[in-house]
Amino acid sequence: MTKSLIKISVKAQKADCLAISTDVLAVGVFSDAPADSIVKTLDKKLGGKIAQLKKLGDLEGKPKTSCLLYAEKAVAAKRILLVGLGKRKDIKADCLRKAASLAATKAVDLKAKSIVLCLHSDVSSDKIDIASIGQALAEGACFGAYRYDEYMTDSNNKRPAAIKATIVDANTKAVTQLKKGIAVGVKTGEAQNYARTIANRSGAVINPITLAKEAQALARNTAGLRCTVLDDKQLKAKKMGGIIAVGQGSATPSRLIVLQYSPSGATKKTPAVGLVGKAVTFDSGGISLKPGAGMHDMKFDKSGGMAVLGAMKAIAQLKPKVKVYGLIPAAENMPGTGSYRPGDIVTTYSGKTVEIQNTDAEGRMILCDAIAYAEELGCGRIIDIATLTGACVVALGQKRAGVMGNDDKLVDQIKTASDETGERVWHLPCDDEFVEEMKSKIADLKNAGGRWGGSCTAAAFLSQFVDKAKWAHVDMAGPGVWGANEGDAPGSVGFGVRLLTQFAMNCK
Ligand code: BES
Ligand code: MN
Ligand code: ZN
Repeated sequence: MTKSLIKISVKAQKADCLAISTDVLAVGVFSDAPADSIVKTLDKKLGGKIAQLKKLGDLEGKPKTSCLLYAEKAVAAKRILLVGLGKRKDIKADCLRKAASLAATKAVDLKAKSIVLCLHSDVSSDKIDIASIGQALAEGACFGAYRYDEYMTDSNNKRPAAIKATIVDANTKAVTQLKKGIAVGVKTGEAQNYARTIANRSGAVINPITLAKEAQALARNTAGLRCTVLDDKQLKAKKMGGIIAVGQGSATPSRLIVLQYSPSGATKKTPAVGLVGKAVTFDSGGISLKPGAGMHDMKFDKSGGMAVLGAMKAIAQLKPKVKVYGLIPAAENMPGTGSYRPGDIVTTYSGKTVEIQNTDAEGRMILCDAIAYAEELGCGRIIDIATLTGACVVALGQKRAGVMGNDDKLVDQIKTASDETGERVWHLPCDDEFVEEMKSKIADLKNAGGRWGGSCTAAAFLSQFVDKAKWAHVDMAGPGVWGANEGDAPGSVGFGVRLLTQFAMNCK
């Protein structure tokens, strides 16, 4: 039995934040503006301590900074955490999300059981509407309070079983609006943490079979979500040659997980969106074995699949207007007597043949089958998301995903969702010149291109498995494996859950 993770709850309350009892009271401070009334009152009660901190240069109000004070009975809270919001003129929902995350992180480090968030009191509602403030604060609190410690024994890591976050505002109308946003933010926040937990589990625990069981359990416990799983026999019968080939060196055979959400009143004409997530539960490279250093990180090679799993959990609760299919091809890429080999020619679900040049370019081999299947299911828009190429990390770094596609409008919709959620993407090309590079001399395509532009050639390969659908591809290799910033809980950040959920919510 593993230990349960910290239970996080977020709610709103009408109150004077200085009068409310809590372990930690988090108050927002701008870097370029005079103190607001709450900070001023607080300063008075503390006998000018805050002014003194400012004078010393210890309180700058910059993002990612905070300052802990002990209240000494001046207020009801045990501790006061002044949290930097950055410049007032640059304030965005993401600043509040990050500030709430930092506050929650500090609270968990302090082993606090409760935190009051008073970060938005001086944020003008013309800049961000109050419901969006509530959503961002709730998402941030969920994100920051998360720790992956299910294998840590209690003696090693003593912390409370639960933390309660309360977003406080003195205005009744504002509280009503905050509550609306919190209801959404808690759902996306919880879905994101769920994706983080499954992603953080090792390859020994999460393999294609146990992952499929997890998805089925999720669907059982989530109203409006259905799950079917194609096992290896069914995959062979359907001639999903890519998914089968990648998993055939593993003791645990491949699966294709299909999750489904339908809005109420949906008809045959209701548009369907396909979200396809790569779940290589461990990527050793296969016969084209990876170097040993850092190979343990390849438990995160299922992160695209986890983004889809988490997004489907949120989508079933937030109920967008479109049908959504979540497809998760799951395979373990291992070297073994049964493995697929360099030189093999694999017939994919689409009928197209692929010459295997490198068994470590396995992600595209499982995605191509799932993408073709998504189109067959009737998805007019398909987004795949994957920790696909090291090249994307070289190009864009560890925190930003690449986005490529065959339809600029769809790419723009992903960019919009990215701006709204703070999960950052950058548009890269994948057109003809890159497709040319993926053609084989002995089969229709080959699975690896040359040395340069590896994310573009990988996406170009995938583009060949789409017929009429609008398609986009998100390469999240950087944020999937190395998304955590200094101070964040180590491990998965659940990248893609908010992005895909927001995309679906924006769909008509
Ligand atoms: N899962 C890896 C890509 C990856 C690397 C993700 C580092 C996250 C961090 C993928 O399966 C892979 O091995 N890609 C190869 C492709 C190459 C063999 C054409 C790569 O990027 O080197
Ligand atoms: Mn690989
Ligand atoms: Zn991989």
